[in-house]
Amino acid sequence: MILKIIAFYFIISKPTNRLHLLEKMLQAEVIYYSVYKTTVAGEDRMKIPLFDLTRQYEKIRFEVLESIDEVLKSGRVILGPHVEKLESEISKYLGIEYALGVSSGTDALVIAVKALGIGPGDLVITTPYTFFATASCVVRNGATPIFLDVDEKSYNLDLDEVELLLAGVYRGSFEGCEVENSKDLNRKIETVKRVMEIYGLSTRSRIKAMIPVHLFGRTMPLDRLRKMKDKYRIKIIEDCAQSIGSQWFMDGKVVHSGSIGDISILSFFPTKNLGAYGDGGMIMTGNAELYQRCRKLRVHGAEKKYFYDEIGYNARLDEIQAAILGVKFRHIDKWTYQRKKIADLYEKLLRVLPGIKRLPNVEWRNNVKYHVYHQYVVEFETSEIREKVMKVFQEKGIGFSIYYPLPLHLQRCFEYLGYKKGDLPVSERLSETTLALPIFPEMRDEEVMEVANTIGEVVR
Ligand SMILES: Cc1ncc(COP(=O)(O)O)c(C=O)c1O
Repeated sequence: MILKIIAFYFIISKPTNRLHLLEKMLQAEVIYYSVYKTTVAGEDRMKIPLFDLTRQYEKIRFEVLESIDEVLKSGRVILGPHVEKLESEISKYLGIEYALGVSSGTDALVIAVKALGIGPGDLVITTPYTFFATASCVVRNGATPIFLDVDEKSYNLDLDEVELLLAGVYRGSFEGCEVENSKDLNRKIETVKRVMEIYGLSTRSRIKAMIPVHLFGRTMPLDRLRKMKDKYRIKIIEDCAQSIGSQWFMDGKVVHSGSIGDISILSFFPTKNLGAYGDGGMIMTGNAELYQRCRKLRVHGAEKKYFYDEIGYNARLDEIQAAILGVKFRHIDKWTYQRKKIADLYEKLLRVLPGIKRLPNVEWRNNVKYHVYHQYVVEFETSEIREKVMKVFQEKGIGFSIYYPLPLHLQRCFEYLGYKKGDLPVSERLSETTLALPIFPEMRDEEVMEVANTIGEVVR
């Protein structure tokens, strides 16, 4: 909003005063945000914030303002050349044929589900340990989500459980299932049996799709996902809201998260690795028909203006956000490397400490980015240790967050599904024991050290 006001004054003032006016207002704005507030949360400023947009803005300020000015001068503010350019750049970067700028990651998911023809009577497997929109998009289309548990190492959907469920439903037996981690096989079988009972699943059940999430920026095993997609003929919507740039190695080459889904989505929420200064999202697909359908759904269901083939949405991406994203996109790889450096330093400092059950680090073998560290989420041995760490963080002004404090299968809005506490034990445990530590590309080494030392003071 403030940027828009600046832009407005900029346009109406005399050309000679413009630069001066712009400079002064910018200074005032940056000082305001830097000193008193964070732009996203609106919280009182932390000594070490969980995330800080203002440091990034200081570095790209003129590029950003120039791009906004270009849009405003053009007079084309919605779905114009900047959106198209961004679509083409991201599609090339990810190696996915089509990309479509939309109003948010949430809208991208709602459109993706609809475009795949998923509706009433259909079931969609997903994770309960994710942001709400991953599952609400299913219900918004009249279908039903099936929550399975997550893998305790990656925090991502447990594909052993998915395999067991699909085999159990479609073959009536768990025999011959390709389970990768057999260590906790009995627990997984119990979970899957319980889920089958909750939904009354039988060979007549219509499990249409799966929505895996590359949570916190960690790529799911794409080769395994693709194999399951072919084996069980289910559709896959990859939720890449947190994973832009994350990769996997398969078929002798490096591919990005998003590349095996029938449809994949991104979010450009401001805190994301590629974030707008407002809302935004993207839909990607390699299928021309799906692309055309999503394109139509983005603008009310009209292929031709004012002629509606179906009921769609107002889900367009605006030009100012696309122009800003275009500027930021030029820096994405550098920012990802900076995140990785911070994650490595955290690991070096934290791995020697007691009280920590798991750190999220994944090696980038052969420089393949298996994790882009959208969040750095640590699991403590107990919820009591987490409580103590949070208390000291609060006293010291260190930012933190819990992603996610209540898994989706236990949310009130999903009570009707019939889950109860204990049904998905790994997700439930993680929601009580994990903590997201500050991470953003401009974070300084001393800050990482201070966060780690503070944890050390509590747990030692
Ligand atoms: C995993 C996941 N899916 C979907 C979304 C929804 O994206 P948006 O906030 O852009 O609507 C988010 C954003 O927070 C997310 O983290």
